[in-house]
Amino acid sequence: MTALLHLDASARRNSLSRELGAAFAGAWRAAHPDGDYRYRDLAADPVPFIGEAWTELCDGVLAAGATDLDRLSELARTPAQRAAWAIVAPLLAEVRAADVVLIGTPMYNYSIPASLKAWLDQITFPRMSLAPTRFVVVTARGGAYAPGAPKARFDYQERFLRDFFAGHFAVEDTVFVNAELANARQDPALAHLRAQHDTSYRAALDAAHTLGKEY
Ligand SMILES: Cc1cc2nc3c(=O)[nH]c(=O)nc-3n(C[C@H](O)[C@H](O)[C@H](O)COP(=O)(O)O)c2cc1C
Repeated sequence: MTALLHLDASARRNSLSRELGAAFAGAWRAAHPDGDYRYRDLAADPVPFIGEAWTELCDGVLAAGATDLDRLSELARTPAQRAAWAIVAPLLAEVRAADVVLIGTPMYNYSIPASLKAWLDQITFPRMSLAPTRFVVVTARGGAYAPGAPKARFDYQERFLRDFFAGHFAVEDTVFVNAELANARQDPALAHLRAQHDTSYRAALDAAHTLGKEY
């Protein structure tokens, strides 16, 4: 059975990245009526930041040379470590069960929201493998960052996530669907960019829907 883990990270409910994620997930669920679909809202239901006990679990993995993450439960010895493990275990189980991880995320301060970073920190252990998981990231950003745009070099959202999945999980084919110039919806000074935003958003919605059918 194929499995999709769907994450949202926007702080707002009326969110473009949520709409893009819903378009992918809706198409995926229609194409896989028996598929396993899991949803996690990292903004409404945030995962805690990692703490000292989490780092002790991590040290235990390294010291034991453990490549089997299921052994982590044996390495959790103190009450604090067991409490840290109780937070990580369900997060790890759902990401490791997924064939596809869909992440809906806004660009915040040229990068990703802290809620998404907190999830990445929780679920990533040394030498952890996720292959053959595939990642699809649907984003909304206030400005424009495509190659050639004046602010292209400030895009630490796509670059970070692409490099993170490649560096940690050897996943080289993360797919990004970006809706750009969203600030034209709110900022009267950007009204002249509204049509460009609408075109970008419609193309992103179409792409998310098409990808959802194909994955
Ligand atoms: C805290 C915050 C920081 C933001 N930082 C940026 C930024 O650095 N660059 C940018 O292009 N847009 C930025 N934006 C605009 C958002 O990316 C834009 O509103 C986008 O639509 C948010 O995604 P959402 O619609 O899914 O909530 C920021 C918005 C917020 C709330």
